[in-house]
Amino acid sequence: MAFGERISIKTRSEIVSMRESARHVGEILLELRELVRPGVTTGELDRAAEKAIKDRGVTSSFKGYAPHDLPHYPAVLCVSVNDEIVHGIPGPRVLDDGDIVSLDFGVSLDGFHGDSAITVPVGRIDAEKQRLLNVTRECLDLAIETMAPGKRLSDIGHVVERHAEDAGYSVVRVFAGHGIGRQLHEAPWIPNYGRPGRGPRLMPGMVFAIEPMVDVGGPDVRMLDDEWTAVTADGSLSAHFEHTILITDDGADILTRVSGSH
Ligand code: MF3
Ligand code: CO
Repeated sequence: MAFGERISIKTRSEIVSMRESARHVGEILLELRELVRPGVTTGELDRAAEKAIKDRGVTSSFKGYAPHDLPHYPAVLCVSVNDEIVHGIPGPRVLDDGDIVSLDFGVSLDGFHGDSAITVPVGRIDAEKQRLLNVTRECLDLAIETMAPGKRLSDIGHVVERHAEDAGYSVVRVFAGHGIGRQLHEAPWIPNYGRPGRGPRLMPGMVFAIEPMVDVGGPDVRMLDDEWTAVTADGSLSAHFEHTILITDDGADILTRVSGSH
């Protein structure tokens, strides 16, 4: 991940391609969300995502992805349950009534990537879990509201951290949002915390994947032996929402938002 490099500005025609790939991501995530219920395995969700990718003639952004010496990511979908924060590998795990499950998904089309995530209830969840989902989603919404030309990069993380901490939660610090385009992960690194008014100014044509990860307990992370799945060190619940967002002349356009999605 070359997060130190300059932030790419997409041309008009590149933005057309990014809109397309992001729309597929948003639509497929909606389909996958409908499949979440008690008794479904995380592997079944991944296979449904594989089929949607094939049917639409797009390419997985995740399968085979291998940043910084990690083993190749083996699936097209990340499925992270309860205390799993991100990058859960789908498999035989059966979803239970009362779980919360994060679905993180990305595809490319014409060489441009889209990336989005939602956390949804499995069956019925209690009010405390629902509050975690609401607050994390609000963190993403607040981040997007602050995004416009002339704003500074650290303004994004600042509003995310403030909202999560006001609710009594913490934000994960070792993972962050990122630029996105020809690469799934481009510059800049976009932490979900920090002081406002720092870093580069946002400019039209920049595209960012913003992805708050919020824990009920502390922010510390433990990695599972599969080298991908990140869980909360204290076993507390964690939620994750993400959109791919274009900076426009007068604000921000949520490229992975389709009718009915988060
Ligand atoms: N939204 C996740 C991220 O930006 C996607 C990870 S893709 C994976 O970290 F292939 F690395 F799992
Ligand atoms: Co991402």
